[in-house]
Amino acid sequence: TSKDKDESYEINRQAAMFFFRALREKANPGYTYMKTRGISEDTMNRFGIGYADGEWRSLYDYLLQKGISEDKLLSLGLISKSNDRCFDKFRNRVIFPIMNTAGKVIGFGGRIIGEGEPKYLNSQESDVFQKKNNLYALNLTRKDVSREDAIILVEGYMDAVSLYQAGIRNISASLGTALTENQARLIKRYTKNVILSYDADQAGQNAAFRGLDILYREGCRARVLKVTDGKDPDEFIKKNGRNAFLDLVDHAIPYGDFKLNMVKQRYDMEDEQQRVEFIHEAVRVLQKMNPVEADIYIKKLSAETRISEGAIRFEYTGNTSQDS
Ligand code: GTP
Ligand code: MN
Ligand code: MN
Ligand code: MN
Ligand code: MN
Repeated sequence: TSKDKDESYEINRQAAMFFFRALREKANPGYTYMKTRGISEDTMNRFGIGYADGEWRSLYDYLLQKGISEDKLLSLGLISKSNDRCFDKFRNRVIFPIMNTAGKVIGFGGRIIGEGEPKYLNSQESDVFQKKNNLYALNLTRKDVSREDAIILVEGYMDAVSLYQAGIRNISASLGTALTENQARLIKRYTKNVILSYDADQAGQNAAFRGLDILYREGCRARVLKVTDGKDPDEFIKKNGRNAFLDLVDHAIPYGDFKLNMVKQRYDMEDEQQRVEFIHEAVRVLQKMNPVEADIYIKKLSAETRISEGAIRFEYTGNTSQDS
C-alpha cells in the first residue's frame, strides 16, 4: 500500500542520513577512500555519499531503537538474516544512495573499500526499489539532461559521480543491469538523445549493443562512445579531463554504424563469399531501421563492399523477413 511505501521511503531516508553522517566523522575509511579516488567533499555531499562501518549491527541497532521492525528492515535489504540472527547488510563500504526522480531514497549501492569481493552490493528489490524502473543520479541531473537535450549513460556509480564532478552533468548510470525498456521510457521524458558510454571491456560493449536496440525501439536517437584510454569514463576523465571526454561525445558512433561494424567484424572483407554473407546479415540490420536511414547505409555498404547499390537494395526490399 501507499502507507507501506511511505514508510519504506522514510526508513531508507533515515538509513541514508545515518550513512551520510558516518562519512562526515573524522578519519573514517569511506571518506579517505573517496578522496583517494579524487572525489571532493562537495561532490560527496551532492550525491549524499555515505559510509557503512565494519560493525555487525550499527544501522540495525540504530533503526530498531527508532521502533522499526526487523521484518521491515529485512524487506528493504538493509539487514540480512542467517541462523536466526540479523546483521547489517552493508559493512565496510562506501554507500551510494539511489533516489527516484522525486528525490526519495529507494535503495543503496555499497562499494567495498579497496580490494575484495563482491566489489559492489546493491539493495534487493523492494516495494520502493525496482532496478528496471530507475536510473542512478537522474534525480540530480534531469534538469541538465533536459537543458542539454542529451544524456550520457554509464555503467557505474563512480563513472556518474566522476563525470558530474568534472562538470559533465547530463549523466546517469543504469544500476549495474542491462538497460531496460522502462529505463528507456524514463529517459524519453527528458531527452531522446542518448549516448551510451559503457566500460571498454567486452562486457561493457555487449551491454551497449543490447542497450542500443532497446533505445532504438523506444524511438531514441542512440549513439555509442567508447573511451580510448582507461577502462571506463571515470578513469578516462581523471587522466584526460573534461574537454577530452566532450570530444569523445562529439564523435560517438550512431546506432547504425555501430551495429554494422559489429556485424562486419565477423567477416573477412577480402573474401568475396564472406562479403556477400556480410551484406546478407547487414541488410537484416537495415530492415529494422526507417527507410531514410537505411538508404544512407545502403550507399555506405556499397562503397565498402564494392557490391552495387542496386543489388543491396534488391536484397533489402526483396527479402523482408524479420528474423535475425
Ligand atoms: P569502480 O571499480 O569502483 O570504479 O567501479 P566500476 O563501476 O568501474 O565497477 P564495474 O565496472 O566492475 O561495475 C559497473 C557497475 O556494475 C557497478 O557500478 C555496479 O553497479 C555493478 N557491479 C559491479 N560489480 C558488482 C558486483 O560485484 N555485484 C553487483 N551486484 N554489482 C556489481
Ligand atoms: Mn565487476
Ligand atoms: Mn565492468
Ligand atoms: Mn571504474
Ligand atoms: Mn567500470
